[in-house]
Amino acid sequence: MLNAVGLANPGAEVVRRDVLPWLGRNLVRARVLVSVVGDSVEDFAAVIAKLDDSEAVAGYELNLSCPNVKGGGLEFGSDPTSLRAVVTLARSATRRPIFAKLSPAVAQLEGAAAAALESGADGLTLVNTVPGLLIDPNLRRPVLGFGSGGASGPGLLPIGVLAVARVFRATGAPIIGVGGVSSLGDALQYVLAGARAIAVGTAALRDPRLPERLVGELAQWCEQRGQEVRNLTGALEWRP
Ligand SMILES: Cc1cc2nc3c(=O)[nH]c(=O)nc-3n(C[C@H](O)[C@H](O)[C@H](O)COP(=O)(O)O)c2cc1C
Repeated sequence: MLNAVGLANPGAEVVRRDVLPWLGRNLVRARVLVSVVGDSVEDFAAVIAKLDDSEAVAGYELNLSCPNVKGGGLEFGSDPTSLRAVVTLARSATRRPIFAKLSPAVAQLEGAAAAALESGADGLTLVNTVPGLLIDPNLRRPVLGFGSGGASGPGLLPIGVLAVARVFRATGAPIIGVGGVSSLGDALQYVLAGARAIAVGTAALRDPRLPERLVGELAQWCEQRGQEVRNLTGALEWRP
């Protein structure tokens, strides 16, 4: 899938007033990680400060794949100075867990992950989409109205699994694995690479019940083999 939906959302104020109370009332078992973005280093901490008194929030995921609009346009995750500043400021705004989400396209992925952890992140989310372009041959123009977009879905699976394996090997940190998961076999690959949790994006758009089914299938797979999921995390017998 190629998307350029941007970061459409109603803004932190509406999320605080309407969305989080709704989630708190209606998703009793779910633990909600709020995805946080901003145009500047300071925006991330400002959003967190606005939401942090809500009991519906279990933690935050900093989307570091967006551009630092007020600081030159480079992605936060690709600029070690702004990456450290974003995470440090976000850390000072909350005691809840923070996950730093990175694109697999950042230079020095292990270095960026380590910098996020040193600055106070509790874990990492890997991976975000990779930049892509699809062209309509008749129009000789991009298929998406915006032009280029972020590519996700099955093609992202090996990229995400490698990123998780590399960062887990380098840091041992808690990782949420995401990218191309649409089956139990895909989820198991992320776990073996080092993920402690799995996220499903594109496949859940087509099949919203998929994440729930995968949880059941994973539990069943482990039970049949007398395994515990936690013992499979990072059990890949290969060094990236
Ligand atoms: C339509 C769409 C919108 C997305 N919006 C966001 C976003 O706002 N913030 C973010 O961090 N990632 C966003 N992503 C990336 C996904 O969270 C995920 O990292 C990526 O799609 C890879 O997982 P998948 O292959 O399971 O979709 C979006 C992905 C899609 C397909």
